[in-house]
Amino acid sequence: MISCVLFVIFSFINTLYAQQSLSLNGKWELRDSKSTYKNLIGNVPGGIYSDLMSNKVLGDIFSGYMDDTTKWVPRQEWIYTKNFTVTEELLNFENINLMFDGLDTFADVYLNGERIGQSRNMFVQYTFDIAHKLKVGENILKVHFKSPVKVSEDLAEKQSQSYVIPPVCPPNEYHGECSVNMIRKMQASYAWDWGPSFPSVGIWKAVYIEAFNCSVIRHVVKDVVEDDKNDVWILNVDVYLAPSKTTIASGKIEFSIKLNNEAITKVVDVPENSIVVSAVIEVPKGSVHHWWPNGYGAHDLYLLKVRYSAENEREVSIKEVRVGFRIVELVQDPVGNGYSFYFKVNDVPIFMKGSNEIPVDILPERGQDKKKIRTLLETARDTHMNMLRVWGGGVYESDYFYDLADEMGILIWQDFMFACALYPSNNDFLENVLDEVDYQVKRLSGYTSIALFAGNNENEGALRDDWYHVRQNFTVFKNDYVKLYVDTIKNRFEEITHKRRIFVASSPSNGKKTEQEGYVSNNPYDQQYGDVHYYNYVLNPLNANILPIPRFASEYGLQSLPALETWLTATSNYSDLFINSEFVTHRQHHPLGNGEILAMINREFHLPHATDQRYVESVIYFSQISLVNGKFCSTMLKVFSHL
Ligand SMILES: *[C@@H]1O[C@H](CO)[C@@H](O)[C@H](O)[C@H]1NC(C)=O
Ligand SMILES: *[C@@H]1O[C@H](CO)[C@@H](O)[C@H](O)[C@H]1NC(C)=O
Ligand SMILES: *[C@@H]1O[C@H](CO)[C@@H](O)[C@H](O)[C@H]1NC(C)=O
Ligand SMILES: *[C@@H]1O[C@H](CO)[C@@H](O)[C@H](O)[C@H]1NC(C)=O
Repeated sequence: MISCVLFVIFSFINTLYAQQSLSLNGKWELRDSKSTYKNLIGNVPGGIYSDLMSNKVLGDIFSGYMDDTTKWVPRQEWIYTKNFTVTEELLNFENINLMFDGLDTFADVYLNGERIGQSRNMFVQYTFDIAHKLKVGENILKVHFKSPVKVSEDLAEKQSQSYVIPPVCPPNEYHGECSVNMIRKMQASYAWDWGPSFPSVGIWKAVYIEAFNCSVIRHVVKDVVEDDKNDVWILNVDVYLAPSKTTIASGKIEFSIKLNNEAITKVVDVPENSIVVSAVIEVPKGSVHHWWPNGYGAHDLYLLKVRYSAENEREVSIKEVRVGFRIVELVQDPVGNGYSFYFKVNDVPIFMKGSNEIPVDILPERGQDKKKIRTLLETARDTHMNMLRVWGGGVYESDYFYDLADEMGILIWQDFMFACALYPSNNDFLENVLDEVDYQVKRLSGYTSIALFAGNNENEGALRDDWYHVRQNFTVFKNDYVKLYVDTIKNRFEEITHKRRIFVASSPSNGKKTEQEGYVSNNPYDQQYGDVHYYNYVLNPLNANILPIPRFASEYGLQSLPALETWLTATSNYSDLFINSEFVTHRQHHPLGNGEILAMINREFHLPHATDQRYVESVIYFSQISLVNGKFCSTMLKVFSHL
C-alpha cells in the first residue's frame, strides 16, 4: 500500500510531505525468457546469481569450478515481474516517476504491457515517466534483462566494422567473457586476474515510484573553500531539483547547518523552472573544527539540511548531507628533474598509507552489505591507513561506503570505472558515459573524504606501452582516449564541480606533465612525475632496495594465496589444494602466477617436501609473508603506499 514513507538512502534522508514515494523493493517473480526456470522468487535489490542460489537452481557459485559451469546463466534473458497496487491519491500528482537506482545492465522495462524505458548503464540512476501509464488498482511491472555477454559481443562485432578496439578477450586463464570494454558494467564482472567471471544481471539497487507536483531534491552538490581574509569557510552548495512536466512552482530552499554552538540558516528563492539552485554560505572559522585524515586529528562532520518547499508549504522535499571543513590540495611543484606529487590537507603535507579497494563483493548486490563495508573500512582505519583507492575495474561504491570514509578520515582516490582496456568514443558510447558522469559526480563529489578523481586505471600506460599492439594506429586510439577522458569526462566533471575538485586523467599518470604532453605522456611510469603502479614478479620483494622511489605509488601488486580456511569453503577435497593441482591452477588467473609464487617463496624460505603433511599450509603461509609490505590480503587488497 502507498504511504507517505520516509526513505533513507544511506546518509541521505529524503522526506516527502504532500509528495509520495512507493517502494517496489522486496519479492518479485523471476523466470527466464523461455520459462525453463519459472515461479522463482527474485529479491530486489538483488542479482541473478544470488537469486538462483536462494532458489536452489544453483549451488554455491563460489565453490569448485562453478565459474565455468554457470556460464549459461548470463547467456539467458531473465525477467523480473512485480504486481503492485496504486491508489487514486497517487494518480492525482502531476509527476509520477519510476526510479531505478541501479539496473545491471541491459533491461527493457514494461508497465502493464507497454515498454516504458530501457537501460544500458549499471552506474546510472534511471527515471521513467509513468504518469499516464499507471492505473488505480493492480499494475504489473516487468523488467526484462538481455544477456550482457551477447550484447557486448554484438557491440564488438558492430565496432569491428570500422576498427577493433582491444583487448577483445581476456587471457584463457581468466575463464572470462569477451568485450566488456564495449559496455558500461562492472569491468571485473567478466573476470579479472584476481576474480571470477560472474556477469550478473538484476535490479541491484532500490526501485520506487515518486510522485510530486512541483519538484523533489535530487542532489546536493557541495564543497568548501577558505576565505582567509575574512576568517571564514565558504560553503558552496548546488541543489539539483527534479524537473517537473508542468511548471516548477516558484518556491524556496532553506539551508541550515548546525555548527559547534550555533546554527546558520539561509533562504534562497527558487525561480520558476529552475533545475539548479545555488547558495553560498559563510561559516566563521571559529565555529567549526577542521576535518582531518586518520592519524592527524578528528573528523568532525556538520549536518547541512536542505529543505525545498513550494506552494506555501504544500510540498516539501528535504535532503541532509554532512560537511567536513577541510582543504585538499595536490601539490605538483618543480622538484629534481620533475614535479612533486603529494597531498596537503589543511596545509599539512600528508604521507599517504593505504590500499586499493576492489569491489566489496564480486556480486554487486552483496557489495551493499553494511557489515562487510564496515569491516573493510575499520580494517583500513585500524591499520593506520589514511587513503583507499576505489579501483577503476569495479563499481562506484555505495553511499554507506563513502559515509564511513568521511566518518573515519579515510581519504578516497576515486577512479572512474574504466580499466586496462581501450574504449570506444562514438557518440552513443559518450552519451552513455555522460549520463554516468552526471549521476556519479553529483552523488559523490560532495563527500568530504574524496580527495581526487582519476579518469581510468592504467589506460594511458596501456596505450603508450602498446599492451594491445595498436602502435600502427596510435593516433586513432589516442584521439579516442582524449575524447573520452578529457573532452567528455573531465569537462563534465569540471562543469559540475566548478573546477574546485582534483582530477587526473589516469592512474598512473605523470599528473601535470601528462597534461602538458597531450594526455598520453611519453613515459607515464616516469618516477619523477605523478603516480606509478609497481609490478615485478622477477625480483625478490623481500629486498626493499628493489622498490622504486617514485613521487607517489598508487598501486603495488604481488600475489599470495588465500588462507586455508578460505580455500576449504571452495573445496572439501584437501588434495585440491596443492599449488599445481588442476583446481588451484583453475583458480589462478594470472598467467604463470603459481610458478611466480613458488619462486618468490624459494628465494627466502625452505618449503617442506611435497609429501610432508605441512606442505600445503606452508606454501600458503610463506606466500603471505613473502612481501616487503607485510599484511596482504590476497583477493581484497593490493597494497600501496606513498614513498
Ligand atoms: C497536485 O496537483 C493536482 C492537479 O493540479 C491537484 O489536484 C492536487 O491537489 C495537487 N496535490 C498537492 C498535494 O498539492
Ligand atoms: C500478477 O497479475 C497478473 C495479471 O493479473 C496475474 O496473472 C499474475 O498471477 C499476478 N502475479 C502475482 C505474483 O500475483
Ligand atoms: C590499423 O592499421 C592497420 C594496418 O595499417 C589497418 O589495416 C587497420 O585498418 C588500422 N585500424 C585502424 C583503427 O585504423
Ligand atoms: C581430490 O582432488 C584430487 C586432486 O585434485 C583428485 O585427483 C581426486 O580425484 C579428488 N578426489 C575426490 C574424491 O574428488
